[in-house]
Amino acid sequence: MVNPVLERLYRENAVVHRDGKRRQLCPPGIPAFKGEYLFQLVRDRRPNVTLEIGFAYGLSTLFIAEALRQNGRGRHVVIDPNEHRRFDGLGLRHLEEAGLAEIVTFLEEPAELCLPRLAEQNLRVDLAFNDSDHLFDHVVTEFVLLGFLLPKGALLVFDDASLPGVGRACDFIAANRPDFAEVRPVHARLPPGAGGGPARLEGLHTLLTRRPGHPAGGSAGTGG
Ligand SMILES: C[S@@+](CC[C@H](N)C(=O)[O-])C[C@H]1O[C@@H](n2cnc3c(N)ncnc32)[C@H](O)[C@@H]1O
Repeated sequence: MVNPVLERLYRENAVVHRDGKRRQLCPPGIPAFKGEYLFQLVRDRRPNVTLEIGFAYGLSTLFIAEALRQNGRGRHVVIDPNEHRRFDGLGLRHLEEAGLAEIVTFLEEPAELCLPRLAEQNLRVDLAFNDSDHLFDHVVTEFVLLGFLLPKGALLVFDDASLPGVGRACDFIAANRPDFAEVRPVHARLPPGAGGGPARLEGLHTLLTRRPGHPAGGSAGTGG
């Protein structure tokens, strides 16, 4: 495991909220092999800025931020409106424990409200991970908004592409957005016979932006 905090969290697979109740960590957190895939992507690509939607108890953030720390550069932005209300701020505590809080900017608001502001601020993201609400309309909305932040050559990874809402959104993107190409998740430790399309094994769906589809807010379909 890439750091001792993650090792402890996966071993215990539980957190204790302030009300004394134990709650399962994973799910909602991603399984370790997906985290290791994200970790390796960040190590390989050495991004300056990474961004993630869906923080919860912070598992995927810990993998991404640990990779940035080991790269010796880069910062991570993570968005989640429910961190204190549903997760008791434990994701933030895990980041502190791992010594990774300095690398991470946490934004406690809905992504659909936050992403337009980040686009106005001209934030450019080299690698994004979407593990948010899994309904079709929500995934597509976040995809469109994320598109404003991703320059040519950036990567966008969806989790849970095997769920109906996310899977249909991925199909929609594949059919309608030629400015994104699918990438096979080469680093994931895949069980024998894992199904799905080559880019969606084990629910991970990785996309590469292959041309700047949103220079001024247009999409590939509008000639962008
Ligand atoms: C599956 S959990 C994320 C797990 C996390 N990536 C991990 O590995 O520990 C999904 C998260 O999406 C968040 N979420 C739901 N709606 C959202 C929205 N509109 N904007 C941003 N995050 C949202 C939830 O609060 C929840 O924490």
